[in-house]
Amino acid sequence: MKFLRLVLFATHAAASPLPSSVGSAGEIDSRVSQLLEGLSREAKIGQLQQLPGHLPAAEIESAVRAGRVGSLINVTDPARLRELQRIAVEESPGGIPLIIGRDVIHGFRTIAPIPLGLAATWNPELVEANCAAAAAETRSVGIHWTFAPMIDIARDPRWGRVAESPGEDPFLARRLCAAMVRGFQGDDLAAPDRIAACAKHFAAYGAALGGRDYNTTWVPDQQLWEVYLPPFKTAVDHGVATFMTAFNDLNGVPCSGSAFLLDEVLRKRWDFSGFVVSDWASVTQMVPHGIAADDREAGLLAIRAGVDMEMATPSMAEHFASFIDAGKVPPERLDELVGNILRVKLALGLFERPGPPETAVYPPEMAPESLRLAEQAAAESLVLLKNDGGVLPLPAGSKVAVIGPLADAPADQLGTWSFDGIAEDVVTPRAALEADGAAGSLASARFVPGLAYSRDKSRDGFAAALEAADEADVVLFFGGEEAILSGEAHSRARLHLPGAQEELLAALHATGKPVVLVVLAGRPLVLEPVLPLVDAVLYAWHPGTMGGPAIAKVLRGELDPSGRLPITFPRAEGQIPIYHGHRNTGRPFNPDSWSHIDDIPVGAEQTSLGNESHYLDLGHEPQFWFGEGLSYTRFRHGEPELSTTELRGGGTLEVTTTFTNTGERSGHVVAQLYFRDPAASITRPVSELAGFRKILLGPGESRQVRFELAAEDFAFPGPDGEARLEAGTIEIMVGTSARDHRSATLRIEP
Ligand code: BGC
Repeated sequence: MKFLRLVLFATHAAASPLPSSVGSAGEIDSRVSQLLEGLSREAKIGQLQQLPGHLPAAEIESAVRAGRVGSLINVTDPARLRELQRIAVEESPGGIPLIIGRDVIHGFRTIAPIPLGLAATWNPELVEANCAAAAAETRSVGIHWTFAPMIDIARDPRWGRVAESPGEDPFLARRLCAAMVRGFQGDDLAAPDRIAACAKHFAAYGAALGGRDYNTTWVPDQQLWEVYLPPFKTAVDHGVATFMTAFNDLNGVPCSGSAFLLDEVLRKRWDFSGFVVSDWASVTQMVPHGIAADDREAGLLAIRAGVDMEMATPSMAEHFASFIDAGKVPPERLDELVGNILRVKLALGLFERPGPPETAVYPPEMAPESLRLAEQAAAESLVLLKNDGGVLPLPAGSKVAVIGPLADAPADQLGTWSFDGIAEDVVTPRAALEADGAAGSLASARFVPGLAYSRDKSRDGFAAALEAADEADVVLFFGGEEAILSGEAHSRARLHLPGAQEELLAALHATGKPVVLVVLAGRPLVLEPVLPLVDAVLYAWHPGTMGGPAIAKVLRGELDPSGRLPITFPRAEGQIPIYHGHRNTGRPFNPDSWSHIDDIPVGAEQTSLGNESHYLDLGHEPQFWFGEGLSYTRFRHGEPELSTTELRGGGTLEVTTTFTNTGERSGHVVAQLYFRDPAASITRPVSELAGFRKILLGPGESRQVRFELAAEDFAFPGPDGEARLEAGTIEIMVGTSARDHRSATLRIEP
């Protein structure tokens, strides 16, 4: 039996209060109590209802006037919002202002890359700044609340919502979550340029079986505590104002009816003080899930579990009074739920300033600084995956052929969840490269799409595209998938480039001209069939409003490609799930043991010996590893040096590694620290990310990168959610991806 110490603070700890200049947590709580005293039961119940903005205007207005609604989603006209707030405050029985929500997922009008692209920047400060810019645009029109960050760990690129996720890794997700919550909320929810954030979808929505959206999830407690819950705990630690339940059923209980998640974990263990909103109709969807006979029963389940506000459907509000009268719900429960909502409304300063100012306009202006941040985020999200013969950066004076269905597709470039983005604002790669051609940084840029859209199967445009390729020095092919092929309810079972893109790439390859593939997509695509056809691959996700100039600058080498993969890329769909932090198995993959499917003799006798955990046809390696991404320069790194080789509980460890730019250009390296606990009471992942730094190194420059870790960072949760720090050795790995690193050994003595 190993020596073990429980590290309680890792999973309990008091939550941060909601950050607000309106008052301390205690002051806000006493205002909540006063407000509750003055509200009738009906007025309280009305607070629990969120109505969608697509309902007829008169219906919304009368619901607000009657005090039957506490929140609206998807109303963006500032004049209408001002009027509705006036009605709520002056004419409704309770006089409580409305909280207005909207999906501001990666920008409001100014659209940054999709969240998976933001994750690829490995730059939390930049992500925070982009969220702050989005918050300012959003609040300016009178919207107080975004349904972000989405912090569902996603290890299945078939899932359409991988686009919206921080990727596969809990540590990266936690860092991004903290950055996003800080960016949206700042240190004062009542500030005129900040909004309430919402940690969603609680929980394990990304574990949908088969990557099919809304599908069932079966997640053992061990994996819940280790992988899916930590980003949500981080959200609470950073004072996130709200949580959203998930659509999925988790281990047999739909999340909107899960007292385990909402009460035991969120309220009791984590001490969350904001409010929980259901997902859209997720309460009544407990009927088709098969856990409630009708909407009434579904409403009761949600109330008992801990949903405070119901989005879109009215099953809680409609039946609440009868639940109290029938003794099914104690009256105090209503005060708890409403109190949670009022606390956030107060912290947001809605009672002082419910509506937007007279001067508010929709859509809001885009500040030059917001556009600059969106461009920087797009540039830093670009991941160079292949660059044979140094075809990139393009030599000055190149003649380029700009081909492909996504070179000039402004709406697709915005990606999923960009309701308030405007296609006319978008600068496409075509526009940016043509401008470069006109300005002389390229000799010329000729645009011939070849295919009209990503799924286009027609070969009619091929001849013109091939002719343009013939005349050019280099072909820039902008392929991938349209925005509508990822996002909610848009899962794909086949992850190849859709339509006739592979065929067109083959034809372009046959011209003998160098081909650069720039992929705009909402997920990792399967690139194996096209990799031999292209000289370079730049992965651009859906890069948002300023994607064009960002891509052009990186292609021309004005900026270096500094994105790194936040998710492992499979070689084929059949390898999914494939992610860096997997367990080793008892027969780990060994390249020497791989009997390739083509090498197995016909009639061979059955044997498993010497044949380890892999696929006969694809082995075990992904196409591209988590953390991977090339640069225009080369880096070398030394061994990790440890400040101590024996770490005791409560102690800290410094890990120092020297990174050197051995090339002739400056470039960003993302130094990554992983560790592995090779022998523990519960099997541990082969690699756990525990630190990263993005630094710029000039040609020939060396820099020491220092990571500081606490002994408790090496603790891990058990199935009870309690973190354990165990005695034993730890392998510390520092490098530039989950594959490429050097290691040192540490001993832990708790
Ligand atoms: C999504 C949520 C979103 C909500 C409101 C739902 O369908 O799952 O993520 O916030 O709609 O638009």
